[in-house]
Amino acid sequence: MTKEFLATIFPSEASIPKSFQLHEKIDQREYLINGELISWQGDLSPVLSPVCINTGNGYEQKVIGATPLLTKKEALQALDSAVQAYDKGHGVWPSFTVAERIEHVEKFLMRMREKRAEVVNLLMWEIGKSLKDSEKEFDRTCDYIVDTINELKQSDRRSATFQNEQGIMAQIRRVPLGVVLCMGPYNYPLNETFSTLIPALIMGNTVVFKPAKYGVLLIKPLLEAFRDSFPAGAINIIYGKGRDTVGALMETGKLDVFAFIGTNKGANELKKLHPKPHRLKSILGLDAKNPAIVLPDADLDNAVAESVMGSLSFNGQRCTALKILFVHKSIVNVFIDKFNAEVSRLKPGMPWDPSVGLTPLPEPGKTDYLQSLVDDAKQHGAQVVNENGGTVIQTFFYPAVLYPVNKKMRVYTEEQFGPVVPIVAYENLEETIDYVVDSNFGQQVSIFGKDSAQIAKLIDAFASQVGRINLNAQCQRGPDTFPFNGRKDSAEGTLSVSDALRVFSIRTLVAAKSNETNKGIIGKIIRNRESSFLSTDYIF
Ligand code: G3H
Repeated sequence: MTKEFLATIFPSEASIPKSFQLHEKIDQREYLINGELISWQGDLSPVLSPVCINTGNGYEQKVIGATPLLTKKEALQALDSAVQAYDKGHGVWPSFTVAERIEHVEKFLMRMREKRAEVVNLLMWEIGKSLKDSEKEFDRTCDYIVDTINELKQSDRRSATFQNEQGIMAQIRRVPLGVVLCMGPYNYPLNETFSTLIPALIMGNTVVFKPAKYGVLLIKPLLEAFRDSFPAGAINIIYGKGRDTVGALMETGKLDVFAFIGTNKGANELKKLHPKPHRLKSILGLDAKNPAIVLPDADLDNAVAESVMGSLSFNGQRCTALKILFVHKSIVNVFIDKFNAEVSRLKPGMPWDPSVGLTPLPEPGKTDYLQSLVDDAKQHGAQVVNENGGTVIQTFFYPAVLYPVNKKMRVYTEEQFGPVVPIVAYENLEETIDYVVDSNFGQQVSIFGKDSAQIAKLIDAFASQVGRINLNAQCQRGPDTFPFNGRKDSAEGTLSVSDALRVFSIRTLVAAKSNETNKGIIGKIIRNRESSFLSTDYIF
């Protein structure tokens, strides 16, 4: 990859393929409260694409639209709408049967699928995700909704029966918790957000949803589907700065659940604002610094291929990305050579290029931040060991592979969330174990090797430190039916298709001594359909 090529990655307006061009700015003003799309007449926040346009006279970061900068007032209106729609558990939405709620979510899914092309295009423009990965994010989200519906049907079938234990009969059902605030991250603005929003809704909670910092406009094509698919107030969608809007919601104490994917710092600050923290259930996906440990006998081709994708897919902007590589000193040189060769095959370019592997970054100031990590590492003895590593062209940062990395460097412990790959040469396994044990984070690790004794030692050392140990594979969240969680500062609660239904609900049971009188009462309630909770209705 030559510097000259890097300098040409940004397109002129005319060279953007027609099907991906954005012909006009999307000035979005609508927000959703109480079943109504309201048009905001106040200040807007410009949406800048990470894509810069080569004007022939320099580069211009493309402004693709704007979103409403709502204030505390509108945020509180959205909350009131959700509180009213929940109505202490007696609102329309929480009172629906499971089958009815499923119907509404299916209707939403049908409308959502119609917007695939529009949402995928905005994912590319807003966060620079490649076409392939943007399509994957959209389809994975639809699959997640389908799986959620199927899982809920199964769980509802299980609850349609009575249990009898120690002379006590009971029917146990999952019921909603109340009002949920959902906030997602910019790197998976659709998938990660919907992996809490949809389970929260389908379990009968009402929701205030605030889209991520970037990846906001892509919710616009779905606003009408949200409005039309759910009863008024079940879902409310607000925009604006977090400190102006979300803080105010927390302070009211009216939120029952906080579903947040972001930084532990952000989560901490918000949680503290709730006046009765014991009443706030939190489901958090937070920071991570997942290490890969490459043992001396690892299949190097596999370890390199997985580590390159693990550390650099979507430019390293995944919470599950490999953020530091510990490679045994006996193989570190050959590992680095192979790693660099593989990195050089990743094609820098624009998200719509079908063979692109590296794209520009959406966060303002991100290239400066990454540069500061590289400079700090250099000061403490590391070098950028790959050709053109750390080259910055506007919003694009060519991956910097840093070696040898040591404890004194910020990048040893700090989550870079971008294309910087620190490599540490280790001698004893204990060094890698100490790293994981001493880390503030505890999401996942990857182990590459063949020696079962060493692998078993690491598994046992890490089983009490992280949520998932990957063997000869990069870290990742999927399949979505598997538990996704973390320890320490990395997460609170567990998500998966089935776990999400659990975390957004609570089991309530009706229990009675199993005698003739009680059987008679319960039998009558069921036969006469006198209760919606106590019922043996079965979803086919
Ligand atoms: O950013 C965190 C995502 O949950 C990671 O999901 O491993 O499928 O990329 P992924």
